[in-house]
Order: sequence, then structure tokens, then C-alpha cells
Amino acid sequence: MSTRRSALITGITGQDGSYLAELLLEKGYEVHGMVRRASTEKFDRIEQIRDRITLHQGDLLDQRSLVDALRASDPTEIYNLAAMSFVAVSWIQPTLTAEFTGVGVTRMLEAMREVCPQARFYQASSSEMFGKVLEVPQTETTPFYPRSPYGVAKVYGHFITVNYRESYDLHATSGILFNHESERRGREFVTRKITWTAAAIKHGLTKELRLGNLDAERDWGYAKDYVEAMWLMLQQDKPEDYVIATGEAHSVRECCQVAFDEAGLGDFEQYVTIDPAFVRPAEVDHLIGDSSKAERDLGWKPQTSFEELIRLMTRSDLKLLKPR
Ligand code: NAP
Ligand code: GDD
Repeated sequence: MSTRRSALITGITGQDGSYLAELLLEKGYEVHGMVRRASTEKFDRIEQIRDRITLHQGDLLDQRSLVDALRASDPTEIYNLAAMSFVAVSWIQPTLTAEFTGVGVTRMLEAMREVCPQARFYQASSSEMFGKVLEVPQTETTPFYPRSPYGVAKVYGHFITVNYRESYDLHATSGILFNHESERRGREFVTRKITWTAAAIKHGLTKELRLGNLDAERDWGYAKDYVEAMWLMLQQDKPEDYVIATGEAHSVRECCQVAFDEAGLGDFEQYVTIDPAFVRPAEVDHLIGDSSKAERDLGWKPQTSFEELIRLMTRSDLKLLKPR
């Protein structure tokens, strides 16, 4: 007897959505993705699986479209990954960030209640909620102190997920994921900006790298490892919240060192200029997570070290930018 397994991923065109879609296809799921209309389609990250997934038009601002996407896909699992995810832009578009990243979660939960209350729901929560950290390392019980409009919106998204689980008995889980990167990371995020620019300098395409705070520290893992944790969370009989992290913090400076070394450029400092335009109005200085609950309950552990991650991203960008 076969049990149909079907997933709807919002944010399927993003870094995590594309890796999660690949993982679920490997596991035999019927995979649906929600995409928003643009004048030019940007489906590069899902090009390789385009003919194996079904896409539905929808936007987190539009309740009707969420209900219709759920009706059409009839999912057993919903992964809500869509959001305005770039912290720096959340100061420029604070209200829109609240709508997408905060209230958008309620719209998804309401649509689920109406269409498929028996499905399982994953909310993409973030270590940015810990902000000005109140405990080191951060766990599922560390209080939040967000430092950006994005972080504030994610705290709302987190608690509305907890609240709907408790109010309506939904299988709703919030995964508190620390930073995770990959060859598919958007180029505005600091790791990819560094690996891409190091590769561009190596190939003579540019001369300098402009950055903000080199001392900020993050707990950086590999996105491919992290989407596995999302899936594992929804396989649990009882929905709970989990921190997903490597347990190691590294600075932006260290990231530059590793990337420039992999590119064979030597000392990164000769290429880096500090540009106040990239310094944030309020900074998150240091994040480091403790994912021992995930290890205990889900059997999840990170597989890729910080150094391996930055080196593999740099090699990928060197290949991508190599003059043909
Ligand atoms: P990403 O690459 O920026 O992808 C974001 C996705 O959301 C894109 O597919 C985007 O679609 C979609 N989206 C944005 N606004 C939307 C709207 N109004 N309606 C429908 N779709 C919309 O982000 P990511 O790195 O994969 O992260 C996935 C999720 O995890 C996000 O919620 C993020 O905040 C959260 N998170 C990420 C990390 C991390 O380190 N990567 C850590 C913790 C939590 P378009 O392609 O149309 O723009
Ligand atoms: N983007 C960027 N660009 N960041 C810079 C730069 C720069 O030129 N220079 C220094 N930084 C510092 C930022 O100030 C921040 O402290 C750190 O590098 C990381 O910035 P990002 O890579 O933009 O990531 P983030 O930590 O703000 O947010 C990411 O991780 C969150 C989880 O903690 C995003 O993926 C969020 O969506 C995610 O929730």
C-alpha cells in the first residue's frame, strides 16, 4: 500500500527552496512550489528540476492565491520558506518586511486551516530573532532580542506558528535555523559576496571588495545539510521547535581569509575597503547555536565545516566566472 506524500514549498525559487525540492523529489514526494509573478521569470535555481515539479502562482500578500495554491496541490506537508530574507533591506522596507515575513505566516496558517488542517506545517524561523543575544550559545529556550525589522517580523512569525499549534492543534513546527550558505546563496549575503568577489578578482574582472563590519560573527552551515533538518522536523509525531546550527562561530574576516586563500590571492586585506554603506543601523555581533535537541530527537548533525563550506563556494565561483 502506498501513501501519497506531497509537499508545497513557498519560496521554492530561493536557496533553501531549491535544495529542499531536490531532497523531497529524491524521497519520492510529489513536489509543488509557489512562485510570484515577475515580468521576467527567475527560475535559475530550479531549472534542473522544472519538469518534475508543479508551480502555482501565489504571493504572501494575497490570501486568495494561498488558498488556491493549497487547494491545487493538496499537500501533506507545507514548507513556508518565502520571505523578504535580506536583513539590510528590512530597514529600507520595514512595513513590507513585516507583511511578507511576519503577517504572511498568519496568512499561510489561515489558508492551511481552511484547506488542509491535517497537513504538517514548517515555518522558516531564524537565529536573527536572538539578535543582541541574552545567552551563549542560543537554544530553543533562549529569549529573543531582535535587532532589525526582519528579526522583529520573524519573531512574530515564530510565535504565530506556536500560537496556532496551541490554539488549533495544528502540526506546526518552527525551525530556528542559523545562517546557512551554499553555491546558490544570493550574492547580497556576505559569504557569497566574498567568494564571488574573490573569484572575480582572481579572474581580473574587478579589483576590490567593499564590506561593512568585518568583526561580526556568525554560526555558518551548509544549506544542503539544513534542508534535511527541515524535513526531519516534519517527520516527528509531535510538532516541536528546533535550533539548527553548527555550534561554531566565525567572523566575516575569517571568511575573507579562507576565500582569498582558496582563490590563491594571499592576503585579503590588500583588496578589502571598509564602506560605511554596508554597516547596519543596529548590528547582531555574535551568533552561536546549540542544536543538541535536534541531534537527540532528529538524529541531525551538520556534515560540512565552515572552512569546507567557504572553500567549496569559492571553487564554484571560480568556475562560474572563468573566462571562456
Ligand atoms: P531566499 O533565497 O531569499 O529566498 C526567498 C524566497 O521567498 C524566494 O523564492 C522569493 O521569491 C520568495 N518570496 C519573497 N517574497 C515573497 C512573496 N511576497 N510571496 C511569495 N514568495 C516570496 O531565502 P533563503 O535563504 O532560501 O531562506 C529561506 C527562508 O529561511 C526565508 O524565510 C529566510 O528568511 C529563512 N532563513 C534563512 C536563513 C539562511 O541563512 N539562509 C536562516 C534562517 C532563516 P522570488 O524568487 O520571487 O524573489
Ligand atoms: N550582506 C552583507 N554585506 N553583510 C556584511 C557586509 C556586506 O558587505 N559586511 C559585513 N557584513 C556583516 C553583516 O553586518 C552581518 O553582521 C554579517 O555580515 C552577515 O550578514 P548577511 O550575510 O547579510 O546575513 P545575516 O546574518 O544578516 O542574515 C542571514 O542569516 C539570518 C540567520 O541568522 C539571512 O540569511 C537571514 O535571512 C537569516 O535569517
